[in-house]
Amino acid sequence: MRISKRGSFGLTLLLAISAGFMLEPAFAADAGATRHLVQTLCQNCHGMDGVSVLPGAPNLSGQQKEYLIQQLRAYRAGSRQDAQMNVVAKGLSDADIEHLADWYSSIKVSVEMPK
Ligand code: HEC
Repeated sequence: MRISKRGSFGLTLLLAISAGFMLEPAFAADAGATRHLVQTLCQNCHGMDGVSVLPGAPNLSGQQKEYLIQQLRAYRAGSRQDAQMNVVAKGLSDADIEHLADWYSSIKVSVEMPK
């Protein structure tokens, strides 16, 4: 069977949509709220996908969830100092931190060893 250009676009769209649904359970009820937090508070420096867009800001995609939680708490408490992150973390609740850590840690990354 020959799939027309239009048909394959539809198929691609369907796959993209179902992939989107497969992501949902991890965030369940908070998916929209978490996305909104990432969009408004983190995206400008760390990207939605955790690939840094600001020189000097680290990539976060695929990072250990526990590590992300610890760092965000440390920035919030001021025990880890960074002018930008201390401001950003100040207003985060424990639940926000948990959801943000879920977001960035659940982004799949693949690595390649040096030859
Ligand atoms: C204005 C830019 C900016 C924004 C906005 C920002 N960050 Fe950062 N972030 C940075 C920089 C720069 C660092 C490195 C700071 C340092 O050296 O400690 C950093 C570090 C971090 C780290 C530590 C990473 C590591 O490898 O130790 C985490 C986790 C983090 N940011 C999460 C977030 C989250 C979640 C948000 C949104 C709530 C956010 N950041 C918003 C600039 C930003």
